[in-house]
Amino acid sequence: MTKPDHDNAKFYIDEYINIYEGKEAARRLNDHSDRAFVDPQTGITKVDALRWQEAQRYERRTWMEHGKYTLSDRNEYHLAHFANYGPLRGASFQRGIELGCGPFTNMRLILDHCRVQNLHLLDPLICDYLAHPSCRYRGGKMGGLTNNSSLGQIPAAVRYPLQFVRTMLNAYRIGGFSGRPVVIEQSKIEDFQTTHQFDLVVMINVIEHCQDVNAIFNKILQIIPQGGTFVFHDVLYDASEVSQTLSVSYDAGHPLRVDQALVHRFLEDHFEPSMHAQYWIDQEFCGHKLPRQEIYYVGKRRTKAR
Ligand SMILES: C[S@@+](CC[C@H](N)C(=O)[O-])C[C@H]1O[C@@H](n2cnc3c(N)ncnc32)[C@H](O)[C@@H]1O
Repeated sequence: MTKPDHDNAKFYIDEYINIYEGKEAARRLNDHSDRAFVDPQTGITKVDALRWQEAQRYERRTWMEHGKYTLSDRNEYHLAHFANYGPLRGASFQRGIELGCGPFTNMRLILDHCRVQNLHLLDPLICDYLAHPSCRYRGGKMGGLTNNSSLGQIPAAVRYPLQFVRTMLNAYRIGGFSGRPVVIEQSKIEDFQTTHQFDLVVMINVIEHCQDVNAIFNKILQIIPQGGTFVFHDVLYDASEVSQTLSVSYDAGHPLRVDQALVHRFLEDHFEPSMHAQYWIDQEFCGHKLPRQEIYYVGKRRTKAR
């Protein structure tokens, strides 16, 4: 009888987005792994600066090289899972910010459903993203038919005509002819310095990419006033499974794996939900079943923490 080869079950994704399997993955996992960051109760909630910078290099390559001609980062998928942003429909906000906005933003779809007087976009890579051909806020303006971000979509008209038409309609709805100005914030959430309060804070598919989730939750509480709205989506983990997953895999782009109880506690203590949906997604990668749990949440900041 042949012995099962456990190395076959391993995979390793490096910062250049190369995927290794089997013995080569096992060899690399021996040299480089996230196991040292794991807490048995909370998963990985914080990594060191070097590990986060590696994830940022991965992210920059994802969009500025591999995804140079991409038009969206599953933003339409999130729109559908947020029930077309139904909980925000008709609302009016004084100042809104999208944290970890990426090159395309979810804000561009949110703005179809509510009014936001002053708009900020934050990402540590935001100045790189400004040069992405389909960046939705090129030149510091969102939407509009005649500004740079819309003109950047024109090559897409040939390859994805339907998506192009939808994009131009969205660009017109949110920015009229010439686009609306946005404030560009180049910063990590953890380090973000501002004198403003934001009655709309959006953070969608960001935590896994960050350095320190507790610092992020504290920052959110600093910038969002009582009654302010928090729109949140991410992947949730079970701390009990994180060590096992890390013994067979490495993913340079996703350093944090936060236990769901910590996320739920933060939301329950500080927000009153108007939407809270969780989904199990069946996923396979390199022949492994990797089911994941996703949360879609909209809540208003409570007057008093619980
Ligand atoms: C997968 S992308 C998602 C972008 C956008 N939220 C979307 O859904 O289209 C994750 C983004 O989080 C950003 N990010 C990573 N660490 C961050 C941090 N500490 N603070 C703010 N953003 C961060 C990355 O630079 C990247 O643009």
